[in-house]
Amino acid sequence: MTVIAIDGPAGAGKSTVGRAVASELGVGYLDTGAMYRAVTYAVLRRGVDPADLDEAERVGDIARSAQILVDDVDGATHVEVDGVDVTTEIRGRGVTGLVSAVAANSAVRHELVARQRAWVSDRGGAVVEGRDIGSVVFPDADLKLYVTASARVRAERRVAEIGGDIDEVEASIIERDRKDSSRADSPLVEASGATVVDTSGLTIDEVVEQILDLLS
Ligand code: DC
Repeated sequence: MTVIAIDGPAGAGKSTVGRAVASELGVGYLDTGAMYRAVTYAVLRRGVDPADLDEAERVGDIARSAQILVDDVDGATHVEVDGVDVTTEIRGRGVTGLVSAVAANSAVRHELVARQRAWVSDRGGAVVEGRDIGSVVFPDADLKLYVTASARVRAERRVAEIGGDIDEVEASIIERDRKDSSRADSPLVEASGATVVDTSGLTIDEVVEQILDLLS
């Protein structure tokens, strides 16, 4: 079973690069961030505030009971929660603003890590993207990558995609990095044995080529 772990901060190009590598290798692609977003959606739909620490147990219960489907369909992540297509909703401001709080909940992480391992083993391998894949979920992955880029470059890419004010976007990227890197449970780190790929001055094709070279 081939497993390629891709970790790194938001907006570094992990998804584009991960999908391209998965397609070159003919294996599946799992966007684990979409799973944390799906749980956040389920929590908000039940009227629970994920940022309220008194609600941590309920948030964990919701993660365990929610039916979550994450799959790559035509090169994009398709997500369903309890049978409802929430592919668009999980990328909205409401979920994006609160997903770090849900991702800091240990019960949620425990449940999602188990589901991620099952997803990959059911498919006989995959390229798996997230924040703790090489450090926690698949520490024995065949290849571990830490894909990064400067906050400014990441902000520029996001603005080119969806618009917005560059300084505001950069500030929100820095804030999310800080939350993801400073949480107690499974913070974003360079996993031991990971190869760092800085995509700042590179095209997607150059990055993919660099990764395929590492595999050959
Ligand atoms: O990759 P993304 O922006 O869709 O991730 C959403 C959030 O989930 C982000 O705040 C980091 C968190 N996350 C995580 O803690 N662990 C993962 N394996 C994937 C994402």
